[in-house]
Amino acid sequence: MKHKNFFITTPIYYPSGQPHMGHAYSSIIADVFARFKRNDGFNVHFLTGTDEHGLKIQKAAEKSKLDPLTYCNNISKVFKDFAIKLDLSIDDFIRTTEVRHKNSVNDLWNRLVKSGDIYLSKYKGWYSVSDEAYYNEDEIVEKDGKKVSSFSGSQVEWVEEESYFFKLSAWEKKLLNFYEKNQKFILPLSRRTEVINFVKSGLKDLSVSRTSFTWGIKVPNNKNHIIYVWLDALTNYLSALNYPDLNNKLYKSFWPASLHVIGKDILRFHAIYWPAFLLAAGIEPPKRVFGHGWILSGDEKMSKSKGNILNPMEIIDTYGIDEMRYYLMKEVSHGSDGNISIKNLKNCINSDLANNYGNLCQRIFSFIKTNCNNLVIKKGDYSKNDKEIISETNNFTKNLRELIDNQDLNNYMKSVINISFLTNKYINDEEPWKLKKENINKMNNILHVSLEQIAKISILLNPIMPKSTSKVLDALNISKKNRNYSFLDGSKIIPDKINISSFNILFKKIEL
Ligand code: MSP
Repeated sequence: MKHKNFFITTPIYYPSGQPHMGHAYSSIIADVFARFKRNDGFNVHFLTGTDEHGLKIQKAAEKSKLDPLTYCNNISKVFKDFAIKLDLSIDDFIRTTEVRHKNSVNDLWNRLVKSGDIYLSKYKGWYSVSDEAYYNEDEIVEKDGKKVSSFSGSQVEWVEEESYFFKLSAWEKKLLNFYEKNQKFILPLSRRTEVINFVKSGLKDLSVSRTSFTWGIKVPNNKNHIIYVWLDALTNYLSALNYPDLNNKLYKSFWPASLHVIGKDILRFHAIYWPAFLLAAGIEPPKRVFGHGWILSGDEKMSKSKGNILNPMEIIDTYGIDEMRYYLMKEVSHGSDGNISIKNLKNCINSDLANNYGNLCQRIFSFIKTNCNNLVIKKGDYSKNDKEIISETNNFTKNLRELIDNQDLNNYMKSVINISFLTNKYINDEEPWKLKKENINKMNNILHVSLEQIAKISILLNPIMPKSTSKVLDALNISKKNRNYSFLDGSKIIPDKINISSFNILFKKIEL
């Protein structure tokens, strides 16, 4: 049987400050895909880490009065703890200061030199330390007397220094061909168009080394130069698979990457530079780059400099990790930008979690405990109404795999929420509490259908709320290996005779 491998990555964070909600959002999206694929029988490798070189980090270390490595050791740990707090199911956490990474960057560099794609010249132009990005003259505007990038709003500085260049201009046509052949290389499609237009407008050669600071990986054979931090950082995706050892199991199983989840601010690096470097080096590019939108607070990108940060740690401690994960995945439209606020978070917890999914589980489990001694037995055929809800649910579930494969999380969530609404309505209409005396078999069958519905919803929501849904699935006595998506083709999950256990309240209603 062919192994179904899935290598998924979330950007390695700059440890230049504390983790914030934008980081959380980016990583949780990736985690949801990783968990879905794992539940769906794939052999998943999920990676994140820290991006520790470059001027931005050197400056942050200087500010903290620490040498860069000590500074990075400290903050990388903060990000690793953050990944655990977010409940990310990562298989590896890579640091760009590790030896495995340095070897990999050196090898990629040497390949690019060998292929004739790197040459030495002089760079003259604009650079943003905050974005670690070069900008063209036509991308610069003046704001409050300062030169800033019109793209990101970050301040830029004029740089003139000797630099190695990557012949990006030579890759324009080849990249356009690549996008043409791989229609879904960049999703959502609006971002694909954005990238294609940018490439069509002409690509200039890219400066890939710096000489004015020291914190980074040195260019092989020219110690005065530090490799451009983005060429360094992007290579982490290969380093984590033990590249340049092309025969090792990780590389052979997982390259090319199945999916890089990134924010739209770093699309150019992943969708233009990265495939160009790889094609030049004779390495297959990743299969998909998904660029999600920004999290906004009061219509502005959430960022430290704007002081509009919702602190994910506080939110998790106050409202719970599953609650935050659910809110971010449901309320923020993934292709475009989304506004988040505590008020909306509270509303979402109450209406979707406490009143809908939580209430559905609670009412059915406590009814079965009180009236059936925790045992439900299906007898005879389901009624017309029972069959109807099962078939309506099948209609909702049949394209869920496709939605996930297109990173359409919003529609995925909508379908699952609809199933939950539908099930609550079915129970209200069927009124099993009235049947205890007159038709106990019918009551059992209604409860059986309800449990089956709860099982499906819980498995579908499991990638989003791993902790709460596991409680429900444990209480349904569904084994770990049966928490998969084979039911998406319409098959059943729970046995005809099912014993359930009780569990504590899932989601508390929040005072508004
Ligand atoms: N170090 C680079 C990534 C290198 S990957 C080879 C980087 N780091 S970052 O810490 O600045 O950002 C990490 C992720 O968080 C990126 O996907 C970025 O888009 C995302 N976000 C940071 N702020 C964000 C919002 N306000 N909203 C949503 N995501 C944003 O970029």
